[in-house]
Amino acid sequence: MKKDLIIFDTTLRDGEQSPGASMTLDEKVRIAKLLEMLKVDIIEAGFPISSEGDFQSVMAVAKTIKDSSVCGLARAKKIDIERAAEAIRPAPRKRLHTFIATSPIHMKYKLKMEPDQVIASAVDAVKLARNLCDDVEFSCEDASRSDNDFLCRIIEQAIAAGATTINIPDTVGYALPHQFGEMIKDIITRVPNSDKAIFSAHCHNDLGLAVANSLAAVAAGARQVECTINGLGERAGNAALEEIVMAVNTRNDMINLNTNIKTEQIVPTSKLVSQITGFPVQPNKAIVGANAFAHEAGIHQDGVIKHRQTYEIMKAEDVGWQTNKLVLGKHSGRNAFSKRMEALGYTLDATELDELFVKFKNLADHKHTVYDEDLHALSTAIQVENNARFKFEHATIHTKTNEKASAEITVIKDGQKIKLQSYGNGPVDAIFEAINKITDCDASLLLYSVNAITEGTDAMGEVMVRLQKGSRVVNGSGADLDIVSASAKAYINAINLLQDDSKMNPQKSETP
Ligand code: KIV
Ligand code: ZN
Repeated sequence: MKKDLIIFDTTLRDGEQSPGASMTLDEKVRIAKLLEMLKVDIIEAGFPISSEGDFQSVMAVAKTIKDSSVCGLARAKKIDIERAAEAIRPAPRKRLHTFIATSPIHMKYKLKMEPDQVIASAVDAVKLARNLCDDVEFSCEDASRSDNDFLCRIIEQAIAAGATTINIPDTVGYALPHQFGEMIKDIITRVPNSDKAIFSAHCHNDLGLAVANSLAAVAAGARQVECTINGLGERAGNAALEEIVMAVNTRNDMINLNTNIKTEQIVPTSKLVSQITGFPVQPNKAIVGANAFAHEAGIHQDGVIKHRQTYEIMKAEDVGWQTNKLVLGKHSGRNAFSKRMEALGYTLDATELDELFVKFKNLADHKHTVYDEDLHALSTAIQVENNARFKFEHATIHTKTNEKASAEITVIKDGQKIKLQSYGNGPVDAIFEAINKITDCDASLLLYSVNAITEGTDAMGEVMVRLQKGSRVVNGSGADLDIVSASAKAYINAINLLQDDSKMNPQKSETP
């Protein structure tokens, strides 16, 4: 019997710590639903003590998710642990994750604590957590720069206090694979009660080694990996879930472990995370990049035609690249449409379904093939527009080479139509200028990106806009067959988010 490798996804917690990757409560719940469909074992939903918003998001995920465990992060402090326990309480399966730094540099300068005090805090924290939850994870922050003897002492005591998982993070992405593997092996061998806990790796990608280090840890005996979709995460990110899972599946001859991941869900999940966070996936990114299965060189194409495995080690459809075609067309009925939305993880009431169905029919009239990604975009648009202060109505654009572009835009502001004309260096500049005037927006534009959601010249264009006002950063998205309209929608969406305090980035302080 193959042993299991536990997949702990931290897209909603560490992933959200990527600068600019803010997610609202609704967005976190939508991603959590797809992570559940992906069959990740544990979803780390957030850091409840960091803000009221994050507490509410973790609780909303805990109320929604049934199959995966829902985890809340807490420093080794009573107030954090109690708050995290409260946030995850509604979940049928739950985990409390508490951590404290163990490296000399963190203990001296950040915690200002002696090593023995750190051990005492860890033990108290684990005991308290274990009183509130049966499944407790303890992490030694900055473990890769910690002293192994000290790690062995603190881990032994954390296990004795009730920790069921011990996580060894390479917090600053400093480790090298062979060294990290040896470190994990040494700890598992030397800690006398190591058989009472599952060992885990949590690797950051500062040197581009997060996945390699995680796999080295697995080879050394770790049976849980912490990872994120698209490798999102603090600074250079975390180990990418899709790379770890596909490495295990593809090289099962060397890594004789089993994951529960439904790999066909990888690409749809990656796309949703990218759409929500505003972090595009680079085309040459392994597994989920647009070119990951594209063959350009003639020799390669010839080889693949003759025998696929000459140049392909995985099947594109196994990770969800070709299973995403919607078999519905413009003649499809409401029932089939509703079933497809359900399969994509949406729970819609009758009104939402009606509204979305009209949009789908409209799109199917203009576009030859409608894909799942189109449906995600339509559904995002509806959630974005409902209850928004500003809504895009329509725009008329005039452009001519070497001349200023002009845009006349109609926006609904607090229920009233406002029409305004403006000029710019191109159609998008002119539209943004007009929207700035209507909404009195003086935020800075940090990012503007356009992607075709699917293939073909009739593809919907998806625009991502990142705006900053003071310390607040938001991501707006908009999709349309016409990219100028998509740009206007994305820009207005970002402005709506900036003006709505309930959509504050939940993790706004105290993040580790
Ligand atoms: O990188 C890190 O050390 C963390 C811990 C909180 C697990 O994210
Ligand atoms: Zn981390």
